[in-house]
Amino acid sequence: MCGIVGYIGKKEALPVLLAGLKRLEYRGYDSAGVAVIGEKVQLAKSPGRIFKLEKVLEGKNFSGNVGIAHTRWATHGKPTKANAHPHIGCNDDFLIAHNGIIENYLELKSELLGKGHKFRSQTDSEVFAHLLEEEFKHYHNFEASFKSAISKIRGAYGIIAISKKDKEKILIAKKSSPIVIGVGKNEHIIASDLSAVIGYTKDVIHLSDDEIAVCESDGVRISNLKNEAVGKKARKVEYSLEEAEKGNFETFMKKEIFESPEVIKNAIRGRLLEEEGTAKFGGLEEAGERLKNVKRVMIVACGTSYYAGLLAKYWFSDLTHLHTDVEIASEFKTGNIDIESSDLVIAISQSGETADTLGAVREAKKRGALTMGIVNVVGSAISQETDIGIYNHAGPEISVASTKAFISQATVLALLTIFFARQKNMSLKEGKDLMREISGLYAKVGQVLGQQKTIQEIAEKYAKYKNFIFLGRKYNFPIALEGALKLKEVSYIHAEGYAGGELKHGPLAMIDKNFPVFCISTKGSVYDKMLSNMEEIKSRGGKVICVATAGDKKLENIADDVVYVPRSSEMLSPILAVVVTQLFAYFLARVLKRDIDKPRNLAKSVTVE
Ligand code: AGP
Ligand code: GLU
Repeated sequence: MCGIVGYIGKKEALPVLLAGLKRLEYRGYDSAGVAVIGEKVQLAKSPGRIFKLEKVLEGKNFSGNVGIAHTRWATHGKPTKANAHPHIGCNDDFLIAHNGIIENYLELKSELLGKGHKFRSQTDSEVFAHLLEEEFKHYHNFEASFKSAISKIRGAYGIIAISKKDKEKILIAKKSSPIVIGVGKNEHIIASDLSAVIGYTKDVIHLSDDEIAVCESDGVRISNLKNEAVGKKARKVEYSLEEAEKGNFETFMKKEIFESPEVIKNAIRGRLLEEEGTAKFGGLEEAGERLKNVKRVMIVACGTSYYAGLLAKYWFSDLTHLHTDVEIASEFKTGNIDIESSDLVIAISQSGETADTLGAVREAKKRGALTMGIVNVVGSAISQETDIGIYNHAGPEISVASTKAFISQATVLALLTIFFARQKNMSLKEGKDLMREISGLYAKVGQVLGQQKTIQEIAEKYAKYKNFIFLGRKYNFPIALEGALKLKEVSYIHAEGYAGGELKHGPLAMIDKNFPVFCISTKGSVYDKMLSNMEEIKSRGGKVICVATAGDKKLENIADDVVYVPRSSEMLSPILAVVVTQLFAYFLARVLKRDIDKPRNLAKSVTVE
C-alpha cells in the first residue's frame, strides 16, 4: 500500500503535497518523497517518516505548480532513500509514484536492462519510469507513452506520473489500488484517499479499475484501456476535515474508540424497524428473491474484520439456521473452494481495499455466488465489485489498529442476523426484543467508555508482563482473539486468544505467576464454564483479569481485577466486552510509550497479497 498525492493548479504544489502526505501517512510510513516541476525538475526523498522528508526540504527551493508525492510501505526493496518514490528513469524526464505491485517487473526489467537502462532502486515500481522513457522514444508524446506503458504492466497499481516533456499534465492509472481526483477551481488534487483532498474540494471523481485519467489544471479526461472516453463526472462527498482530525484526543485510536456510540447510531440509522422486529437495507434490495433463496453463507475477511465475521458465524448459525462458514480471505483462495451459485459470500472490510478480501470476492464471483460487501470506505474496490452491500458509515478510521470499525461491523451483522432470522423462524416478539436492545446499545457502550479510568489503572498494573492469554467462549471467543490481536498490534506484547475449552488442551502449561489471563466472563450460557476456567488459572498461580456483567460480585473473589459491563443479552455482550479489550490494549501501549496510531511494520490498508 502507500499514499500517493498529486497537485496541478495555480498554487505552489509543495505545501499541498506535504499536507496530503501527512494525511495519508497511516497508509505507509517507511520512507517518503516528493517531486515538483517548475523551471526545472526538483526531487527529494528520505527514509523514515514525513517529518524527515521535511528536514531534507529545509532551505531548498521547490517552486512549481505541478508535483507528485508518495509515502511508502515497502513491498520490494528495503525502506531506503534510493527505494523511496517518486522514481525516475535514466534521466529525469519522467517521474512516477506507484501504489501496489507490478507483478511482471522482473521480465520488464530484464528487457529494459537489455536496452541499456540503468536502475537505481530495488523496487518493482522503478520499471515503470524506464518503460515510459522507452515508449517515449517511439511515440514522442507523454500521454501516448503512458497509455502504452500501462498496457505492458500486470498486477496492482495506482500510478501517477509527471514529465518535463509535457509540464501541464498529471497522468494517472488505476487497477486494484485506490485513487480519487479532487476537482477544484482550476486545480486538481489527486490522492489515494479522500482525507488528502477534502481540505480543498468536495467534488471528487473515484477512478475505477482500468481507467486512465489525464489531469490538467482546468479539466480531467478519463478513458479506458481501449482508449475510449469514459464520461465520468465529479460528485459531492459528505466528509468533513474535522472527521479526519484528532480533536482533543491524544491519538486517533482513542478518538475512534470513543466514537463507538456514534458509530452504532450511524450503523442502525434508517435500518432498524423496531415495530416490525427486523431490519431493512437499501443496498440489499436489488438482490430480491436471490437473497431469500440463499442456501449457505461464506464470510471472508482479514484481521479484525475476520473476527467480526467469526462472531457473525455464531449468530447466523444459532439464530438463522443458515449453514455459515467463515474463512480468512487469503486462505479462501488457496483451497479447492466449494462455492456454488446458490451461496452468499459476504466480504467484510473496513477499507474495502484489502487485496486478500478483494481477491476472495473475485473468486466467489467467478463461481457465480451472490457477493455482499460490508464496507466502511464509500466507493472502495470491494464496495464497487460486490453485487450488493451495506456501508458501515463509521466515518474515517485513521488508526492502524481497527476499533470503531469492528463495533460497526458487529452492529451491522447483528441487524443482518435478525433480518435473516425473521425470514426463517424468529418470532416477531424475539425480533422486537433484540431490535429494542440494539437501539439502546450505544448507551451501554457509553457506560463501558465511562470506565476508562478503571481500565487504565488495570492496564498500567499489567504493563510489566510479557505474555497474555485472552479467553472467551461462544460469542466471546472471537472477542478473545480480537483482544489478543489488539494488544499485539499496539503494545508489541505477545498475546494469544483461545476458546475457554481449549485451555486444558495445552495452553494451561504456560500459566504461572508471570502469565496473566484476560477472561471474558459475562453472564450467559457459558458463564459457569468460564468460571471453571478462571479457577483453573488461579489454582496454577496465574493472574486473572476479567470482564463481568454489572452486579456479578462473585467474580471479585476469583479474579485479581474485574471490569464491569452493563447487563445485556448474551448475543450482544461481545460488543460491550470488546470495548474493554480495546481500551486495555490502548492504555497498556500508552504506558509503554508505543507509537499507538502507527505501530511498527504495519499499514492501515493492506493492498498487497
Ligand atoms: C486491525 O487492527 C488490523 N490493523 C487489521 O487486522 C485489519 O483489520 C485487516 O487488515 C483488515 O482490514 P480491512 O477491514 O480494511 O479489510
Ligand atoms: N511496490 C512498491 C514498492 O515497494 C510500492 C509499494 C506501496 O504500495 O507502497 O515500493
